[in-house]
This record gives sequence, structure tokens and C-alpha cells, in this order.
Amino acid sequence: MKSNNVNSFAGSCKTYGEGFWKISDFHSHVLPGMDDGAKDVTESLAMLSRIKQQGISSMVSTSHFYADRETPDSFLARRAQAVAELIRGGYHPDTEHPLLCIGAEVAFFTGMARSAQLERLCISGTRFLLIEMPFAKWSDSVINEVLAVREALGLKPIIAHIERYIDYQKGSTLGRLIEGGVLIQSNAEYFTEKKTCRKALKLLLQGGIHLLGSDAHNLDSRPPNLDRGLEIIAGHKYGEDMLREIEECSAYVLKKAKYIQTETETVG
Ligand SMILES: [Fe+2]
Repeated sequence: MKSNNVNSFAGSCKTYGEGFWKISDFHSHVLPGMDDGAKDVTESLAMLSRIKQQGISSMVSTSHFYADRETPDSFLARRAQAVAELIRGGYHPDTEHPLLCIGAEVAFFTGMARSAQLERLCISGTRFLLIEMPFAKWSDSVINEVLAVREALGLKPIIAHIERYIDYQKGSTLGRLIEGGVLIQSNAEYFTEKKTCRKALKLLLQGGIHLLGSDAHNLDSRPPNLDRGLEIIAGHKYGEDMLREIEECSAYVLKKAKYIQTETETVG
């Protein structure tokens, strides 16, 4: 392992010409008016500008989807409108804002592994699906349903913000999911909060976290903060290796991702 100096590592990692992280933000609520995130296009664009200023060059928008409240058709129509509004409002991915591809944060529901509609909610252009799990101890049937999303539907689940529910789970649960091909995302907050930072780094070091997100909702109470999380990881003795692995996983997941085009809409 090399130096644990944050700045020297950040310097070597941010190799995109103007100092951008190669790591993507996999969890955010930046589309205008979609959920409890950005309330309008002005706030969306301000959030995106801040994310770009923090050195994050690509990200995924993951608006909440609840199967018991809305159909996929309705959700996707609203999302397409929100993207169109963002573009009309002045979204500029090459200059002021990060590249953005769209997905959803799908709340777990019984029967999801039998839903042919689920693939429409994957990160655009990929078969990766961000799932928000129940905030309780997961039963075998819940775990098996997530595994079946992969086995029966051929989709690749990503568990959203693992730190929100990991304390309720049996020690073997995470390993079972990871062995079944599930990826794990944590929020930057897990690393930036003093009381959980040590736990977060331990889990990352053990291979229990694969992707990161800001889960940004606005500019004040839940602002974009992925840069701070990355700096904390970079400061760890094995930070360089851990960041490299996150970087590789980010690239793997987004290999076929379709980013929002400002000329031709790619929303699907
Ligand atoms: Fe979220």
C-alpha cells in the first residue's frame, strides 16, 4: 500500500484532465418534481452544478418507485417529462453538469421477481436495478426474492444504502446476497458521520460495499456529499486499493449505460 495522504491520493485518482473522480454517484434524487428530492428544475440544476464542482463527472438519478402507489407506465412517463424539463431548463452535461443516466430506487415488494415490468426500471441501458429494502430484519423469503430477481429475471440487483438496515440483519445475510451476485451500495454519509465511519471503512475493506452514492435530495438538509466520502476513504491506509475497486465496479455497471443526451432523448 502506498501513502495514506488524502491529497496525494486524490491527485493520482482524479485523472480526468481537470481533476474528476472516476467514481460515479449511484444514488440521487436530482430530477425535478419526481419525489422528495429536487422540487423544481432550478434546484435540480443547482444540485448538478455542485456535484460537478465536487469533481463527480457521472451519476445516476434514482427517483423513488413504489409499486403499490404507481404503475411503471405512469412513473416512466413522469420521469421522461422531468428529463425533458431538465434539458429545457439548461442541463449541460459537457460543461456545467455531470453526465447523468436515469434509473429508479425501487422499493422492495413481494412478487417483484415475477414482474416482467421490472427491467424497465433498471439503470438506463443496463440490467442493474437499485432496490430499497425493508427497514427490518429480512426474512428468508425477502432474501430469496432479491436473489430471484437475478435468477428468474436476469436482472442484477444493487441494494441501496446498506447502512440503513445492516444492523437489523443476521451476520450471514450480506454474504449470502453478495454470493448470489447482488451488489451493495452505501451512502457517503456512512463514511462522513463520525459515529459510523469506522464501521463503514471496515465493511468496505471486507468487500461488503461495491458502489457509493450521495442520496442527495436537495442543497441543504441532504446535499450532494460524495466528494467528502471519497476523501475519507482516500485517507485510509488501504484507501487507494478500495477506491480503485469502487472505480472498477462503477465502470463495470455503467459500461453500457445510456446517458441523457441534450440533442436526442435517450429516456426509455
Ligand atoms: Fe434514496
